Amino acid sequence: MTDTTSVPRVAAFRPRLLAPGAADADYRPVLAADDLPPGALIRVTVNEQDVLLAHTPNGIYAVDDRCPHMAAPLSIGVLDGCIVACPLHNGRFDLESGDPAQMPTTGGLDPDGVYHPTWSPPGSPDKPEPPGKKAEARRLTRIRRFRYYPVRIRSGQIEIALPD
Ligand code: FES
Repeated sequence: MTDTTSVPRVAAFRPRLLAPGAADADYRPVLAADDLPPGALIRVTVNEQDVLLAHTPNGIYAVDDRCPHMAAPLSIGVLDGCIVACPLHNGRFDLESGDPAQMPTTGGLDPDGVYHPTWSPPGSPDKPEPPGKKAEARRLTRIRRFRYYPVRIRSGQIEIALPD
């Protein structure tokens, strides 16, 4: 009988989170599966595109290695279950759902590109965004920043479907 207990699983994600072009992309090997143990976060770079590999209890996810909030590399963050914590402003994002688990207190964009205002304590008045180019830039930025790539494992290699 073959022992499959050590073969890593691939995590499923919601179809709406698929990266543009990934459905038709060829798979390419990016890392030996043994180099991504459970709980690990690793950046792989293909054609100047940085991808985060995360080995969660659900299996392996591959997403762009940039925080939805302000694009910091999540690969140097902390993985707790399926929640990845960003090193820059302590935003926390759920790889299973693609949603924020905790927005940074600075406010900013969530993975769907929806703006969240600056946090204020319960019972305190909202903190208005100071007018200016920064606020305007945040309002006009509307892209989904958590984009998922299909993953498979072949011959001990993690492969991802990455558009050219
Ligand atoms: S850049 Fe990640 S929480 Fe701000």
